[in-house]
Amino acid sequence: MRPVTLNFQVQDPTMAEDVIIAPSVLASDFSKLGDEIESVVEAGADWIHLDVMDGHFVPNITFGPGIVKSVRDRTDKLFDCHLMIEPCDPYLVAFADAGCDIITVHAEATKHLDRSLQVIRDLGKKAGVSLNPATPISVIEYVLDKLDLILVMTVNPGFGGQKFIHSQCPKIADIRALIGDRPIDLEIDGGIDPATAALVSKAGANALVAGSAIFGNGNYAENIKAIRAGAKNA
Ligand code: DX5
Ligand code: ZN
Repeated sequence: MRPVTLNFQVQDPTMAEDVIIAPSVLASDFSKLGDEIESVVEAGADWIHLDVMDGHFVPNITFGPGIVKSVRDRTDKLFDCHLMIEPCDPYLVAFADAGCDIITVHAEATKHLDRSLQVIRDLGKKAGVSLNPATPISVIEYVLDKLDLILVMTVNPGFGGQKFIHSQCPKIADIRALIGDRPIDLEIDGGIDPATAALVSKAGANALVAGSAIFGNGNYAENIKAIRAGAKNA
């Protein structure tokens, strides 16, 4: 007798529910960035979060597409690029060419958000939008069909190691409701540790960025595990 073939894939429920952990290399040792990326992937990272700062939109400067390109071959993991630059449009091609998979722009840093998102999609990349803590969610209401990711800032962008802003939890829940059944990731960035991971997961986040809570001490694997456990405890 022929074996019965099922026409659907059985999903491992624990896999399906697993939160995405995206270590922010902002807190890593830049003198060995490629090695740091390899180490954190080995330790269980799902995505690599790259914070690009211009000293204009935010009061700090980090790196540009050349650096991103130089470490692109260190992992196959998705490069989650968070652009804190204004204007952003003139640099989208360069970051796409550098090998970013998700390109996230700030709603506050582009005059024509719909156009910026369309440009990213046209470059064959996933389009993300980030909202500062004071920015209302109404700014994304009419661009949902052009979004692959929404990044909620739970600190004011510019620096690692800042205190989590609790007022963003109801905002995260409102965005989760706005997303509905659309295939949009809801990522949180700023002050994430095992305790705040629980809060934002409960509110509806499925991807978490963490810098100091992962790179702050040597044990990357243990730190990632603790954040994952926090999120599961939501
Ligand atoms: C802040 C950056 C964050 C930062 C988070 O502007 O967007 O990605 O690295 O750092 P922690 O996790 O230390 O708050
Ligand atoms: Zn970031």
